Amino acid sequence: MAELNIKELERRFQEKIDNDQKIEPNDWMPERYRKTLIRQISQHAHSEIVGMLPEGNWITRAPNLRRKAVLLAKVQDEAGHGLYLYSATETLGADREETIDDLHSGKAKYSSIFNYPTLTWADMGAVGWLVDGAAIMNQVPLCRCSYGPYARAMVRVCKEESFHQRQGFEIMMTLAKGTPEQKAMAQDALNRFWWPSLMMFGPPDEDSKHTAQSMAWKIKRSTNDELRQQMVDITVPQAEMLGLTIPDKDLKWNEETKQYDFGEIDWNEFWNVVKGNGPCNKERLDARRKAKENGEWVREAANAYAAKQKMKKAS
Ligand code: 3HC
Repeated sequence: MAELNIKELERRFQEKIDNDQKIEPNDWMPERYRKTLIRQISQHAHSEIVGMLPEGNWITRAPNLRRKAVLLAKVQDEAGHGLYLYSATETLGADREETIDDLHSGKAKYSSIFNYPTLTWADMGAVGWLVDGAAIMNQVPLCRCSYGPYARAMVRVCKEESFHQRQGFEIMMTLAKGTPEQKAMAQDALNRFWWPSLMMFGPPDEDSKHTAQSMAWKIKRSTNDELRQQMVDITVPQAEMLGLTIPDKDLKWNEETKQYDFGEIDWNEFWNVVKGNGPCNKERLDARRKAKENGEWVREAANAYAAKQKMKKAS
């Protein structure tokens, strides 16, 4: 009888997915569905939090007060996205402390892009334009994800990401229309961030161990390669508008497919960075571990205050 129930429960679950009904925290769900959501959402949250570091590096060196205020607002938004997504993992039964420890121990992944250094102010433009641009490409379909809390979190996140991408593009436009040195700085940032931004969409579909199942469960609504292609097709005309050159000698418009053909991505570089050997992996994890250590006294004080309030109420 129990065997029949599981099969029936799985049938009903998949029927809800196929009918585009949202799965909510208290609904029955296959353990593997829960696990892969915790995996993806927690790593998404880690990416938001670690993603604050490359940009935080330039807040004190922004060229003027307006740029500083905009960059501050963006970095604060990323923190909020991270906390939002950690909360979404908790609706699936994940423990916040364990999730964060998994990041600090190196057990959990975060987006490879954040292991590249931000060397000049133009990198703030390239990160906003390309990295947040790629994030939007990947997050808009997630607004239609089958898991309710994740889909709803994405609606709000995407609204803020659009501002992130616009402010990045504006920085690139200002530099590209500026002095020859400023334009050269923008081109250098594009050269360094173009290929790592395409890697953000994950390995090619044929090498992606999760895509098929994630598409069947409507966690993913488009595959890694589909979103990567969309990113290229949208971004190439933007680079032309900036008067900058995409660093890909094989990039060319394909009149038949109405898409851009582009060069081979260096997947060895990708996996090397994912495995922890990128330019900034150690620096990023050290910074996150340090932040947790430095924040210990704040958590202790907040817990002591909460305990005192509880005692007051009880007396
Ligand atoms: N960096 C690090 N690891 C990556 C990766 C990347 N760019 N792309 C894929 N991987 C990992 C996957 O996590 C998986 O490893 P795991 O089994 O240990 O989790 C493995 O490589 C195989 O990849 P798959 O394509 O099979 O994995 P997924 O189906 O999970 O697809 C993904 C990867 C497209 C990143 C998907 O997880 C996803 O859409 N995640 C949500 C969006 C997200 O995390 N974006 C990251 C950037 S967030 C950001 O940029 C914030 C912005 O505000 C700055």
